[in-house]
Amino acid sequence: MTNGYGIDMGTGNLKIYSRSDNGVTLEKNTIAIVEGNQMYAYGDEAYSMFEKAPDTIEVSFPIVGGVIADFDNMQTMLLEVLEQKMGAKLKGADIVIAVPTDITEVEKKAFFDMFAKTKIKARSIRLCEKPLADALGMGLDVTEPTGVMVVDLGADTTEISVISLGGLVLSELLPFGGNKLDESIVTFMKRRYNLVIGRKTAKALKEKIGAALKPTEDTTSVIVGRDVVSGLPIEMEVTAQMIYEGMRDDLENIGGSIRMILEKVPPELAKDVVHSGIYLTGGSSKIVGLSTLFQGMTNITMNTAEEGQETVALGLGKVLTEDRFDRFGYTMKSRIFS
Ligand SMILES: Nc1ncnc2c1ncn2[C@@H]1O[C@H](COP(=O)(O)OP(=O)(O)OP(=O)(O)O)[C@@H](O)[C@H]1O
Ligand SMILES: [Mg+2]
Repeated sequence: MTNGYGIDMGTGNLKIYSRSDNGVTLEKNTIAIVEGNQMYAYGDEAYSMFEKAPDTIEVSFPIVGGVIADFDNMQTMLLEVLEQKMGAKLKGADIVIAVPTDITEVEKKAFFDMFAKTKIKARSIRLCEKPLADALGMGLDVTEPTGVMVVDLGADTTEISVISLGGLVLSELLPFGGNKLDESIVTFMKRRYNLVIGRKTAKALKEKIGAALKPTEDTTSVIVGRDVVSGLPIEMEVTAQMIYEGMRDDLENIGGSIRMILEKVPPELAKDVVHSGIYLTGGSSKIVGLSTLFQGMTNITMNTAEEGQETVALGLGKVLTEDRFDRFGYTMKSRIFS
């Protein structure tokens, strides 16, 4: 079988499915640049420099708000991960790239051009709507005339979509996700406890002790931050309660957005959604208690994906390996110029 790659360029993580081993490779979607525009490091290595690098090294994220913000560096990094890290053979390969639905055709074209504008002669380059890939990756058969609601809680975005008969009935890309939670934790710690912490520390706290419901037992974590008053670095024991309070408003806002979009779902499809529940995925769906919070806000059952970060890439894998899902991949030319 020829090589096939399914690519999910997330704002936080790059996920690549490979047909040859049926597995997903994950790499932080980060680049470190020196001297204007030269790539110094990429992926996990570049992320380890985030908030630590001197002024001469700029650490940035090539995808912002779900769309490509830095085309050249994203392309360099993508090819580097594929060819160097994964040992991918792109010549003659089939490529499918996930794109958010609620962006412009021009923005989608940039994802397509990521491979179309290289010297590599792939056999096919196709796009796939990200919510469809998410659903397939969660094992749902979206070709049936049944309404399916998918909420992908990522790093920089939250994508809420309703699918029926293999197509998107509606899809909204909201410009906030896990990164916003990290920022809110930073702000909260500073305002309430006069402690300045980095976003990376906030993210680690969120993933370790964060919860969407008021914690019953108080787990703690010791971190180092800078005391605003003395200006000195100090150790502090942070509790699950503090992280919960820091994230609470944001999580309720996301729940509110789900409710608002539910109001727009046509009644016959809403019936299906109520019946089978809402499907939560994306890395941020791992927050403890999130499904219970959203369930309480919407009165609808939540099904949380087991591997939220990988469902898009796994769904692209289905497009690459199962004939009946092949049609979910489309080429850009036929869509734009026909
Ligand atoms: N255990 C966890 N608890 C809370 N949040 C988590 C956990 N694990 C990962 N995350 C969060 O998930 C986010 C990354 O998820 P994911 O890889 O799905 O995003 P992405 O696809 O890069 O972003 P997007 O879909 O918005 O473009 C980060 O914000 C990260 O902090
Ligand atoms: Mg994502």
